Amino acid sequence: MIAPSILSADFARLADEISAVGGEPGKRADWLHVDVMDAHFVPNLTLGLPVVQSILKTTDIPIDCHLMIEDPDRWAPGYAEAGAHNVTVHVEAAHNPVNLAKDLRAAGAKAGLAIKPGTNFDDYVEVLKHYDTLLVMSVEPGFGGQKFIADVLDKVRKARQLVDTGHLKLLVEIDGGINADTIEQAAEAGVDCFVAGSAVYNGKDPAEAIEALRGLAAP
Ligand code: DX5
Ligand code: ZN
Repeated sequence: MIAPSILSADFARLADEISAVGGEPGKRADWLHVDVMDAHFVPNLTLGLPVVQSILKTTDIPIDCHLMIEDPDRWAPGYAEAGAHNVTVHVEAAHNPVNLAKDLRAAGAKAGLAIKPGTNFDDYVEVLKHYDTLLVMSVEPGFGGQKFIADVLDKVRKARQLVDTGHLKLLVEIDGGINADTIEQAAEAGVDCFVAGSAVYNGKDPAEAIEALRGLAAP
């Protein structure tokens, strides 16, 4: 699966930028990744629930909300209630991640848990039993266009093994620095869903970029 991140899109032309990745099957986004940043959990500010509500009205691509915010226990369920398909919170910010997963699912969304590059995966295996998605960050959250941190692939391999042996039931997603040079190693490590911001939106044709990435991930 390819999930373009609109962080690298032109926010003044958001509907057009979204329809550019909503076309024919091979060139179409599987999920649309929406980065919500609050200038507290990360040193950047993007958009919030009102914009997500408008995005939900303009596309039928499933919305993947990545909440880089403090106190997701309070704010994340609103994104699920609005109709986001997958709502991901950061384990470093959540107060009670098990309860939060239940709240997200009760509101009709898939529950995602994100871990920053320096966060240990093993500490959260039990918590992940309550989640549908694991988002492994391969850059420090906050900005698009950063360099891929290959060390995080060890966490992907561990998660893949626990999923393949039936200990966890998770979709494994990776976010940060995914492009034509890095996607193959991430695919080999066992990623199911690849977020790509600058690699999709900073080139000439977002739809063709999706097709090229998909071809590299699943040759
Ligand atoms: C970074 C965001 C990413 C970002 C990825 O904090 O979570 O989703 O948009 O951008 P690229 O693909 O350019 O690294
Ligand atoms: Zn993201």
